[in-house]
Amino acid sequence: MSVVQKQGKILSNLEVAPSIFLLNLGLPQVAETAQPGQFVHLRIGPLSDPLLRRPFSIHRTKPEEAKVSILYQVVGRGTKLLSQRCSGEKLDCLGPLGRGFAIPKVAGQFILVAGGIGIAPLIFLAETLLRKMGNGKWEVEKEKRKKMEVVFLMGAASTEYILPESELLSWGAAVEVATDDGSKGHRGPVTDLLTRQMDRSVASCHIFACGPEGMLKEVAQIAGQQKIPCQICLEQRMACGVGACLGCVVKTRSGYRRVCVDGPVFPAGEVIFE
Ligand code: FES
Repeated sequence: MSVVQKQGKILSNLEVAPSIFLLNLGLPQVAETAQPGQFVHLRIGPLSDPLLRRPFSIHRTKPEEAKVSILYQVVGRGTKLLSQRCSGEKLDCLGPLGRGFAIPKVAGQFILVAGGIGIAPLIFLAETLLRKMGNGKWEVEKEKRKKMEVVFLMGAASTEYILPESELLSWGAAVEVATDDGSKGHRGPVTDLLTRQMDRSVASCHIFACGPEGMLKEVAQIAGQQKIPCQICLEQRMACGVGACLGCVVKTRSGYRRVCVDGPVFPAGEVIFE
């Protein structure tokens, strides 16, 4: 893994939904090597305030444009300051960091479950899976290829937090939406959609999820009951981002693991939710 520390030029930093921003950075080395599920650790200010870097999932990469995209929600002082940084300024970036999603070796049905801003790394994953299908990289017979599918289940508080699904649809994903207030799609948690999807799941099904802990716990339970392989991407506060401070540990069946270097993606059955 080639981790670099570079000054990334801000290409744009725009609010795309209430308190949700899309930051585009010029970072050629990261764009070349990042894998879905990995993250970058950004120094928000030009000097040492805030002191600690903040971790952000990589949302998209465009190596041909040397571009890395970060989708983030303003939730505290650090992200508020980040939302005020302007095009042309530079951000000190360390990355790509962590272990991303393991891409299955055989084709099948891939169900992606996103809760809130947990959508950020799953768009990168969906694009990667669909590109692999489109390029015919999986060695499968024509008949089986028809059963290859990416199903993207998207959950949010209400319709204004649902990012446009048009790009996902144009890539060939099936998209379903759930909102807490019922303003778009199913009214209720996104895990309702996953439960429903289980009736239609086929052999070689894989689940990938990112979102709030309560959602991940439920996804892990559903996957465990159905005996379906499932990978979850954890969101955790991080200080060093490189395994030195132990500030990001989670309890797993094999002891405490560091989210920043052993994850952020873990097999769902490994993680012990409190
Ligand atoms: Fe320091 Fe993970 S953030 S060990």
